[in-house]
Amino acid sequence: MTDQKKRFYIKSFGCQMNVYDSGRMADIMETEGYVATSDMEDADIVILNTCHIREKAAEKVYSELGRVRQIKDARREAGKDMLITVAGCVAQAEGEEIVKRAPAVDIIVGPQTYHRLPELVARAHGGQRHIVDTDFPEEDKFKHLPLGSRRSPSAFLTVQEGCDKFCTFCVVPYTRGVEFSRPVAEIVDEAERLVASGAREITLLGQNVNAYHGAAPDGATCRLAALLERLGQIEGIERLRYTTSHPADMDEDLIVAHRDHPKLMPYLHLPFQAGSDRILAAMNRKHRVADYLAIIERLRAVRPDIALSTDIIVGFPGETDKDFEATLKLVDTVKFAQAYSFKYSSRPGTPAARLEAQIPDAVKSERLQVLQAQLKRQQIAFNQSFAGRTLPVLFDRLGRNAGQIVGRSPYLQAVHVPEGPELLGTIAEVEIVTAGPNSLEGVVNH
Ligand code: 5AD
Ligand code: SF4
Repeated sequence: MTDQKKRFYIKSFGCQMNVYDSGRMADIMETEGYVATSDMEDADIVILNTCHIREKAAEKVYSELGRVRQIKDARREAGKDMLITVAGCVAQAEGEEIVKRAPAVDIIVGPQTYHRLPELVARAHGGQRHIVDTDFPEEDKFKHLPLGSRRSPSAFLTVQEGCDKFCTFCVVPYTRGVEFSRPVAEIVDEAERLVASGAREITLLGQNVNAYHGAAPDGATCRLAALLERLGQIEGIERLRYTTSHPADMDEDLIVAHRDHPKLMPYLHLPFQAGSDRILAAMNRKHRVADYLAIIERLRAVRPDIALSTDIIVGFPGETDKDFEATLKLVDTVKFAQAYSFKYSSRPGTPAARLEAQIPDAVKSERLQVLQAQLKRQQIAFNQSFAGRTLPVLFDRLGRNAGQIVGRSPYLQAVHVPEGPELLGTIAEVEIVTAGPNSLEGVVNH
């Protein structure tokens, strides 16, 4: 007997927020009676959840669409249909422009309207072509999403979306819209469901997560530190994290939460973007180098072992060698456990794209290489400082090799151990034997 159920395939590009949204889209499709497939050739609907943050990310979508179209054509020859959906930030930013370059696309849906997927799919099945829904609707999409049942010991939960900061290089305020915080009760409810389906760790997500200011049940405004406190009361939650933060919203309550809140992990991703005040001003970052350093100092005073991560851009328009050296100096001062660094990418519609002093790509590449070498040295030194030490590890996935599972240390390092799947979802003390540049290996202290 053949399985009559329709199948969906989702591929997620870009940030963790997209990973979360892809999960919610999967929930929708399952509610609609579809089943997931990891094989695109089997899929009745393919959803690409796209990223627009840098040109490279956006271009990836078009090369992927070329591949998807070939599969769609092959399926059609075999008498089977396939709907192609472009979701996410490229959908939002480019809208119907997408079908000019990729006419095989059926549905274009933005990050704030994907709860309408069933309706859009029905319209496509009804014969409508090139359906575009990139509104920023009044209704809250979260209220219209079905309850999910994704199972993982480590889960994401979006608590805040959008951004009002308008860094001059960044498309996020245009693709994700203005800042919006979900109400506390809705977040608590979702967290309880995640725990009931096996989550032990929850990472609160937001483009500007520490600007969180959701409504508490009593009508008061709740900031992130208080939200973390509330979520920490849920039985079964062992670990809490949050990302991504902005230095201007790093308030004292949140800093001291890293001292007072035992479930809050000693790790913070705090982008600084550039180490020169002149460039920071041109980026409209709303903080100076000294402000950033003061936050780091304060964090380390309350939580000396906190691991720090950051985002850095090289080659912003007008960046001189001296400005770049200031970035290297800031990295040298802070010492990061981990970091993401990028060549500035000019994005349509952003103020920085109109600046005249664009930096040649060769200069950007050279700076990036120098910076990444420095960051790598720091990351290796950080990881090596754990050799011989014992760390509590939450195991959340199977290893690539049989007989191996992988978890995370409090400092977000991947830790590989030779154990079986029965330890998934548990926290065990692991003695670190080998410290590599990107991960640790150890043995469980039984
Ligand atoms: N060019 C390069 N990097 C960018 N980022 C955001 N916009 C751009 C851009 N136009 C980086 C920032 C941000 C991270 C998510 O991506 O460092 O923190
Ligand atoms: Fe982009 Fe972050 Fe700036 Fe918002 S705060 S505009 S997301 S870099």
